[in-house]
Amino acid sequence: MDFGLTDRTAFVAGASKGLGRATARALAHEGCRVAMCSRNGDRIASAAEDLRTETGAEVLPLVCDVTHAEQVDAAIAQTVDTFGGLHVLVSNAGGPPSGMATEMDPEDYRDAVELNLMSTISLCDAALPHLRTAAAEDDHARIVMVTSVSAKQPIPALALSNTARAGVQGYAKSLAEDVGETGMTVNTVLPGYTRTQRLDELAGDIQADTGQSYSEVEAGWADENALPRIGEPEEFAATVAFLASAPAGYITGAAVPVDGGRSKHLL
Ligand SMILES: NC(=O)c1ccc[n+]([C@@H]2O[C@H](COP(=O)([O-])OP(=O)(O)OC[C@H]3O[C@@H](n4cnc5c(N)ncnc54)[C@H](OP(=O)(O)O)[C@@H]3O)[C@@H](O)[C@H]2O)c1
Repeated sequence: MDFGLTDRTAFVAGASKGLGRATARALAHEGCRVAMCSRNGDRIASAAEDLRTETGAEVLPLVCDVTHAEQVDAAIAQTVDTFGGLHVLVSNAGGPPSGMATEMDPEDYRDAVELNLMSTISLCDAALPHLRTAAAEDDHARIVMVTSVSAKQPIPALALSNTARAGVQGYAKSLAEDVGETGMTVNTVLPGYTRTQRLDELAGDIQADTGQSYSEVEAGWADENALPRIGEPEEFAATVAFLASAPAGYITGAAVPVDGGRSKHLL
């Protein structure tokens, strides 16, 4: 299938590692020019260089903390200045700390909302004028938001994530309706347990609480899934790339789990 992404421009946030990096790679392999950001300059420069070497794609590394709206505005502006437009936005950041609902104070909740909800809104706010232009030109403008399986089926020890992701789902659904007449699509992708540094950190928290070994923690997670294993970042990234593609033009407002069947609800 031709994804129709050749010579499109994509901006991927939180892309020096993990799911964002795998997504940038998948989009570059599909022919996109890729702008990729994270907070750490060395890490994002190195990830961009690896991507350039592997794919031959035009890659723009940007230092940007997505919790600062002015940095987001500057990063999107630099992307458009460099590549001449923007067709695909992938919003993403790190995850908030783990903990039960009553262990967290209001400031922790505020930080989580800044990290996962407000960053998504800032990215969309900065990108929307350019995505509208792309949609008007040839109907190809896509927003894909990275959220979490916890948005569909909350994970008790991830109260901050459960709370912030629900907001992102509400924003995505609202935005999809609002911009639909332009042809732009807005979807969320919900990773389940996927092998990244974030997962290692969560495993470390559980090991400290329970005394379990790493492999016992991982086996416990795998047992929650219909497919009894941990996911790979490439499996997640392939779904984002499809939602960013031309053939996905009639999918909008969807919340797509890539979770090995962890979510147990019917719809
Ligand atoms: N992996 C899983 O199993 C899983 C499951 C459910 C949900 N998720 C969620 O999916 C998202 C990505 O997860 P991941 O596993 O890829 O995490 P990760 O391995 O920790 O990578 C996070 C990436 O985001 C960047 N980042 C963090 N905070 C940022 C900020 N404020 N501004 C810009 N960039 C930032 C990091 O780079 P710098 O440090 O250089 O900024 C890094 O490139 C997270 O929200 C996570 O909670 C992951």
